[in-house]
Order: sequence, then C-alpha cells, then structure tokens
Amino acid sequence: MRVDVLFGVQPLTPQDVQGRVVAVIDVLRASTTIATSLVNGAKVIIPMESSDDAIMRSKQFERGAYRLAGERRMLKMEGFDLGNSPLEHTREAVDGKTVLLTTTNGTKALLAVQGARDVVVASYVNLTAVSTMLRTALRGGADVTLVCSGQDRQFALEDAACAGRYVHLIARRLTGVESNDAAFAASLIDKKYGDNLARMFSAAAHGRALTAAGFGEDLIACGAIDSYPVIPVYQDRQITMLGPDRER
Ligand code: MLT
Repeated sequence: MRVDVLFGVQPLTPQDVQGRVVAVIDVLRASTTIATSLVNGAKVIIPMESSDDAIMRSKQFERGAYRLAGERRMLKMEGFDLGNSPLEHTREAVDGKTVLLTTTNGTKALLAVQGARDVVVASYVNLTAVSTMLRTALRGGADVTLVCSGQDRQFALEDAACAGRYVHLIARRLTGVESNDAAFAASLIDKKYGDNLARMFSAAAHGRALTAAGFGEDLIACGAIDSYPVIPVYQDRQITMLGPDRER
C-alpha cells in the first residue's frame, strides 16, 4: 500500500496514476471552487483546457443551462459568467447548471490525470469527506497518489501543506504504508503550519497574489476546513458529487 505525493503534473508518469486512486489538489482555488459549486447545486462541472474550448462546448447546451467559469491571471475572462472565486459560485449562480470551468493550473492537472482507477478533487473544505474515502480505498489495498497542481509549473506551498494533511489522515495508525519523499516533505510543511492556514496562505506566493488582487476573502473560504463536505469525482471527463446514486 502506498500514499505518494506529486508536486506538479510535470513529473507525472503513467505508473504514478495507472490503476491508483488519485486526488487532485488546487487549494487556491480550483479544487475549493469545485467543491463549493457542487454543494451549491451545480449539476456537473466540466474541466476545459482553454476558454475557446469552453465556449465551443457551451454550444452543445441550451441557453441558461450552463455557466462559463474560470480565470486567467486570477481574473474572470471576458464573456464568462463566473470567475474562479468560490464566493462567486453561489447557489443562485450555479444551482442546476453545468459549469464549464477552465483555470490556469487546477483544471489542467485534472485533464492530465489519465488511467487512474478513481479521481477525486481534494481541498481543505472537503478534508474529512475526501480523506475518509481515500483511507477506505487504501485499506482496501489501493495505492493513492495526491497530485499537487502547483502554480505556473512551480511548487505551491498551499497544495503541499494540504497534501501533507491528507497523508496524515489517510495513513495514520496503518502499518505497512509506504510513501515517497514528497509525501514526507508535505507532512513536514503541514506540521509547520498546523491549523494556522492564514499564516500558511500569507507565506504562499499565490496566497499573497490573491490578496493583492483583491481576493483576500477567498483565502478565508479556501481555509475553512470541512465547510463543504463533498466528494467530487472526476469520471468520463466530468465532475459530479459522489452520493447515493454514485457509490464507490
Ligand atoms: C488555478 O487553477 O491556477 C487556480 O485555481 C488559480 C486561481 O484562480 O487562483
């Protein structure tokens, strides 16, 4: 049994994900926004590579049935309904809608994960729900990979810290679980900040960039542990909520 962490998708090889249970983490902000949007009633979220792809895809839906959402350089794109702020993905905005989402790193990481047994979207807001699911999978003999989306092909402190928390919750008190060095490093980062996520976000480059861009409130939403206890499952190129009609 293994719990491994990958910092970014660049080092990803087929063996890292093939047949494994994979969690994709983009704390600031895509994975938080995905959990928020699903809890607020989004029917399905479709990760898209580019804004052009999202616009093309939207033509398959009836007017009013979808929302174009996402960011470039943190900001909503022209002609889009929503940005990538979890605070914008309110019930009023997304209830019953298909959300076509394109972001700089988070949706790209999801699209890069091919061949996994299961893919889930992980963050602090759904920490207990997702870590319980991953722990159950691990105990059932599955290997788990936590993919940190990172920022512009760089290591991101907030994703590593969150991955470290997951490693702890998934593997605690289980014997015979092996991990790579990145999982060990992620655990050290998580231990350094503990529950002081505000301190961790203010040390993180993307946390500081979001604050400077006027998204300081988003950091509070992204650090609200277990505020959206949902398990977003990425399957058949779309994300839906794991529920009674979609058991694992
Ligand atoms: C991303 O996917 O790169 C992020 O979620 C960027 C952001 O909107 O903060």
